[in-house]
Amino acid sequence: MSRTPGFSFSELARDGNARTGVLSTPHGDVLTPTFMPVGTQGSVKTLTPSEVAATGARIVLGNTYHLWLRPGPELVAQLGGLHAFTRWPHAMLTDSGGFQAFSLAERRTLIEDGFVFRSHLDGARKTLTPEVAMEVQGLLGADIAMQLDVCPPGGAPRAEVEEACRLTTRWGKRCLAAKRPSQALFGIVQGGTSVALRTAHADELGALPFDGLALGGFSVGEPIAMMHEVVAQIAPHLDPTRPRYLMGVGTPLDLVHAIGAGVDMFDCVLPTRNARNGQALTQHGKIVIKQARYKEDRSPLDPTCACPTCAGGYSRAYLRHLYMAGEILVLRLLTEHNLHLYGRLMREARAAIAEGRYAAFARAWIGASDAGKA
Ligand code: GUN
Ligand code: ZN
Repeated sequence: MSRTPGFSFSELARDGNARTGVLSTPHGDVLTPTFMPVGTQGSVKTLTPSEVAATGARIVLGNTYHLWLRPGPELVAQLGGLHAFTRWPHAMLTDSGGFQAFSLAERRTLIEDGFVFRSHLDGARKTLTPEVAMEVQGLLGADIAMQLDVCPPGGAPRAEVEEACRLTTRWGKRCLAAKRPSQALFGIVQGGTSVALRTAHADELGALPFDGLALGGFSVGEPIAMMHEVVAQIAPHLDPTRPRYLMGVGTPLDLVHAIGAGVDMFDCVLPTRNARNGQALTQHGKIVIKQARYKEDRSPLDPTCACPTCAGGYSRAYLRHLYMAGEILVLRLLTEHNLHLYGRLMREARAAIAEGRYAAFARAWIGASDAGKA
């Protein structure tokens, strides 16, 4: 069922609940499961678009909130849209702004019509309604826009979570009415850690003509095992003909669990943000590069990694030196490594699903990270 011209999803193979497929967009095909590196301000921090694409990524995420406040969507549109402006030639998705307004803006309040807040940049009073979120995302011109939604904080009382679901549905309908015909739009399922609330909300949004369905409201402070459990129960319940996107998650291990539940798309600042904090991720856990144990360590971050940092022969000792000296090169080298790990995880997961061996693949990943923690 094609809702938006130039946009479609088809499942290629299924293994248990896990599936591999292809998401077709006006800016090319994206094989799923896929990880979207986060380019909040129109750049995946420290990397060029060709470096990002070399990690295997074929879709990146941009943020409405940030680009709305600066440099402004009219300017981006005048300069040809976000693809032309940033020189990213592949697919792009923008988040709708509510989630960021809630975490970053000052004196924010939630009303029926949207979010009222003050900009974290200059204190200007702004109102983010479903119609504004769609207008801004339309001007930015990503292939996929997200509906404006209400993400209740972790541990919010049930009545608040229920009201967040109801308001999210009303805003979803307003976003569908305001969307550009050429831009795909995803709905966002809320419901906290209640499988019952999530199931009901998924059915409500699934009845609307969204091009894809996202799971929002995870990684907001709930225990990790609980997130895995709720995702495992709700993801298979989402309409299989549409792509399923788990927002803002997570560690490689979280992704292995969620792919097993049938999630197709992910975004998270973790690989890029951790890199800038001096943390390299591997299948066996984290390497905190400033630690003295790496001072004379000639080995690469991960001998099994083919990224430009590891294959380039940069030693842990050199990376540690750069980090201690405050040299910005280390931010690039660690970002390359972390995003290549996510790219490899997605590639290997797709192959495992296509070959009907996802359960064994997941066990091996989970086992390796447990061994790394010991
Ligand atoms: N990113 C991570 N979680 C969420 C969410 O619940 N809603 C939106 N819009 N973005 C997110
Ligand atoms: Zn590497």
